[in-house]
This record gives sequence, structure tokens and C-alpha cells, in this order.
Amino acid sequence: MDAMLGRAMWRHLLALALALRGAQGWSVLILGGTGFRGHLTTELLVREGHNVTVISRGIRYWDNFQRLSPHMTHWRCNRTLAQEHGGGVLPKSSGLVNCTELVNSNATFDAVVDFSTRTLPEMKQAISLLRGRVSLYIFISSHAVYDVAKNRTHDEEYLLESDAVRPGREVSPLDRWALKGKSVRGDNELECEEELLKQYNAGGFPYVTLRLGNVFGPKENSIRYWLLHLWVKACVALTLPLHVDNSLEATPISMTYTPDIAQAVRLAIAKGLNESCCAEKVHGEAFNLACEEMPSQRVLYNYIGEPAGMPYVETIELPHNLSIVLYPDNLQGPISVAKAQEVLRWSPTTLNKALRSVARFYERIMLEAKKHKQEIEYMYRKIKAMLGADGPRFVEWSRARYAERRKTELYDELDDEDEDEIILSRKASADRHGKGSKRPKREL
Ligand SMILES: *[C@@H]1O[C@H](CO)[C@@H](O)[C@H](O)[C@H]1NC(C)=O
Ligand SMILES: *[C@@H]1O[C@H](CO)[C@@H](O)[C@H](O)[C@H]1NC(C)=O
Ligand SMILES: *[C@@H]1O[C@H](CO)[C@@H](O)[C@H](O)[C@H]1NC(C)=O
Ligand SMILES: *[C@@H]1O[C@H](CO)[C@@H](O)[C@H](O)[C@H]1NC(C)=O
Ligand SMILES: *[C@@H]1O[C@H](CO)[C@@H](O)[C@H](O)[C@H]1NC(C)=O
Ligand SMILES: *[C@@H]1O[C@H](CO)[C@@H](O)[C@H](O)[C@H]1NC(C)=O
Ligand SMILES: *[C@@H]1O[C@H](CO)[C@@H](O)[C@H](O)[C@H]1NC(C)=O
Repeated sequence: MDAMLGRAMWRHLLALALALRGAQGWSVLILGGTGFRGHLTTELLVREGHNVTVISRGIRYWDNFQRLSPHMTHWRCNRTLAQEHGGGVLPKSSGLVNCTELVNSNATFDAVVDFSTRTLPEMKQAISLLRGRVSLYIFISSHAVYDVAKNRTHDEEYLLESDAVRPGREVSPLDRWALKGKSVRGDNELECEEELLKQYNAGGFPYVTLRLGNVFGPKENSIRYWLLHLWVKACVALTLPLHVDNSLEATPISMTYTPDIAQAVRLAIAKGLNESCCAEKVHGEAFNLACEEMPSQRVLYNYIGEPAGMPYVETIELPHNLSIVLYPDNLQGPISVAKAQEVLRWSPTTLNKALRSVARFYERIMLEAKKHKQEIEYMYRKIKAMLGADGPRFVEWSRARYAERRKTELYDELDDEDEDEIILSRKASADRHGKGSKRPKREL
């Protein structure tokens, strides 16, 4: 009872503090802020009392939308460009131009955080609609950009931000064309980055690019971590070893934890708006974001197995085209995060701690079963489709196992605060870090 009262009081005080601070908070527009990668960023900014507007289709991934919608302005728009029959896109009659709230309002934004732009025409459309209305643009890109870049020219073990370069269309169209083919996603993302740079150099708004590695965290909408979590538990019982892609077997993997993205966005906005010195160090710059530990596929499976109570994980090596490998989703290997640590003062969660939090989250979901029944059923359908002939017995085994445990283990109904504790438990220390870095000693 006391604990309950304490919590309620704490929430009340926090809300009060945030309401007071809100007056001088940032006005932030988030494109795609209710999905897997973005919802914790939206949540962090909302909790800090900023005025957050989200443009998304309002699809109900998990309960992100319901949880966030009372605390944000939501403009329900589908920003994906429609295609003509010939394959061309229609930027004059689809996508953000049809987002009437955006087009009809005169609102300006301290920052735009862009989780949803996928292609060059979408980026061009966003730039033309937001020009003159935004002080800083944060683009969420990924390590796939290195898959379409020229060979690196340094001996560093890991990919540096400066490696994402390729010959311009004018200089060497053939080389550029050959590189494009290596990753459609990487090509699209690098084109978006190139477009942001171009408009910036022409006197447009400043921007910061954040490049993510293999993203993991709670509330996935395409099933990756969650499948591995169940698979490491099932592999011995079902003699169903996890797959190791032998073409990437020894490649270290950069993993990016979704709460760490939120932290980086907040730091990048503070710097980019010159609230914490120095804006010129981040304007037009890219930053890699990932945990510092970089396991190979096998080691990652063991890391996932450990908190799941599986000290031994069986694996089998398979050629690339026959293996189900969820990580890595790029080809060029791991990324260095030294620049984000040094310039943004960003500190990623340790991989083991992050994996333990995510493991706890999905364990609770599976044991409790009711609150997220829809997501569990969706995940089982996906797994059946991915595992083919082994799908049905995998799902059956998993259902039976959690049903059995539900009978004997104590578990509570999962409420929102429990979810926060599991995932955002490092918030308090992150806050202190953030405030500290806002006021370097020499300015006092
Ligand atoms: C928050 O931003 C929206 C625009 O997205 C604006 O309409 C609203 O007035 C802002 N609220 C405050 C308190 O500034
Ligand atoms: C969004 O728009 C695109 C392009 O017109 C379309 O393909 C897609 O189905 C739309 N999505 C939703 C959820 O309306
Ligand atoms: C989108 O807006 C354009 C004009 O800006 C209009 O011609 C078109 O019909 C709109 N499309 C939809 C689906 O509303
Ligand atoms: C936007 O600004 C224009 C000119 O500054 C003004 O005429 C118009 O009423 C404004 N619209 C809104 C929705 O504030
Ligand atoms: C880049 O590296 C690959 C493999 O390491 C090699 O096959 C290719 O020729 C290199 N390209 C250039 C332009 O050096
Ligand atoms: C940032 O603020 C510092 C003073 O704190 C100032 O010297 C510098 O010019 C500012 N930079 C930008 C890009 O506004
Ligand atoms: C996988 O690749 C090998 C050669 O690399 C090829 O012989 C085989 O047919 C491919 N299998 C499938 C299912 O694509």
C-alpha cells in the first residue's frame, strides 16, 4: 500500500514538474514516432515536458499509440508516396502534401525527428514542406549506408561515420550504380542523407544523422529478438538448432537498443539547438549508435540464452540463402560509436544489461498472456511462416511451456508502470548525465 502511494505521489510530482518546465520545452515534430524504433523517443520527450507532435498512420502497434496519444498532438497521415503504374511516385498528390494538419498549420518546430522517411522522393517532399519551419532536423538512418559506400581507406576495425561516401552521379555514374545494387535500403538511406546535406549546403536547415545498427528492444513490430528468445529456449528440447549464416559467421554484430536511441535524440537536439555547446560540432554530422559489445552470431545467441535460462544454445551452420538469421541485417560489419560518445556525450547501455531487460519484458508478456494476446498471436503467425515445416511444433511447444509455467509461477498483471520499470529503469541516471553535460564546468 505504501509503495503504491509513493508511486502515485511520485507520478503527481513529476507531472507537476513537467508541466512547469513545459513552458520552455522544445516543440518537436516526430515523423513515425509510435512504431518500434521511435516510440521510446516520443515517450522520453513527452516525459520531459516537450511539446511533441507525431505524424503517423496511427496504426496500433502494441499499445504505443494509446499510451502516448493523451500526451502528444497526433496528426494522422500516411506519408508513404503512392506509385504510378510505371513505378514513378506521386509527390504532388500523395504523402505529406495530403497531411492537411501539417500543410494548413503555420506551426514551427525546434526539431523534427524523422523515423519514417524511406526514399529520396519522400525526403525531398519533407524538406520542401518543412523548409523555413524547422530549426534542426534529426534523420534516423542506419548502418546499411556503409553497404553501398566505397571501400574504406583506414585500418580501423570498425566502420567510421566518414566511411559512408560514394562517387557522385556526375563523377562516376557506373561505380555508383554498381554500389547501389548491394543494398536497396542502404542506397535509399544514403540518398536521403545526401539530400539533407545538399539543402544544408545551400543554406537550408541544419541536420544531424543518427545511424542505427541492428535494432532491438521491447515491442517489436517485425519479429526478430522475440523469435530468438523463444528459439534459444526451444532448440535443445525440439532439436532445432539456431542457424548460423556461414558467410557472416565471424562478423561482429553492432546492436542498437531502442532506449539508447531516445537518449541520443535528446542529446543531439540539445547540441543542435546550441543549448549545450557546440552546435557546429553536430550540424551536418552523422553519428553511429550501438552498444559497445559486438558479439558474433553464436555469442549473441549465448547472450540471449543466458537470461532466458539456457546456458547452452545449439547451432548449425548454413549457407546464406538457406539460413534464418535475424542479425546482422547488414554486410559490412560493426560500427564504431566513439564519435557519439565523445561529441554527444552519449553512453550506450551495456549489451548484456539491455538484453536482460528485453528478455524480462518478453518473458512477462508471455507469462501474463492476456494484455498483449494480439501481439503474441501475431508473433506466432510470423514464426510459423518463417520456420516452415518446423513452425507448428515450435509454436505448440512454446504455448504448452508458458501455459505450464503460468500454473505454478507467481506473476502479476502487467501494468504500464511495470513496463516502464523494466525498460526505462536507467532513465534516472541518464537524466543526471544529460543535465550535467548541458552545463560544462567552464561555463559556470
Ligand atoms: C504544441 O504544438 C502544436 C503544433 O504541433 C501547437 O498547435 C500547440 O499550440 C503547441 N502547444 C504549446 C503549448 O505550445
Ligand atoms: C499509405 O499509402 C501508400 C501509398 O499510397 C499505400 O500503398 C499504403 O497502403 C497506405 N497505407 C495505409 C495504412 O493506408
Ligand atoms: C492529395 O492532395 C492533392 C493536392 O495537394 C490532391 O490533388 C489529391 O487528390 C490528394 N489526394 C488524396 C488521396 O487526398
Ligand atoms: C498562417 O500565416 C498566414 C500569413 O502569415 C495567415 O494569413 C494565416 O491565417 C495563418 N494560418 C494559421 C492557421 O495560423
Ligand atoms: C573493394 O573491396 C572488394 C573486396 O574486398 C574488392 O573486390 C573490390 O575490388 C574493391 N573495390 C575497389 C574499388 O577497390
Ligand atoms: C553556440 O553558442 C555559442 C555561445 O554559447 C556561440 O559562440 C556559437 O556561435 C553558437 N553557435 C551557433 C551555431 O549558434
Ligand atoms: C543457395 O545457393 C547455392 C549456391 O550458392 C545454390 O546452389 C542453391 O541452389 C541455393 N539455394 C536456394 C534455395 O536458393
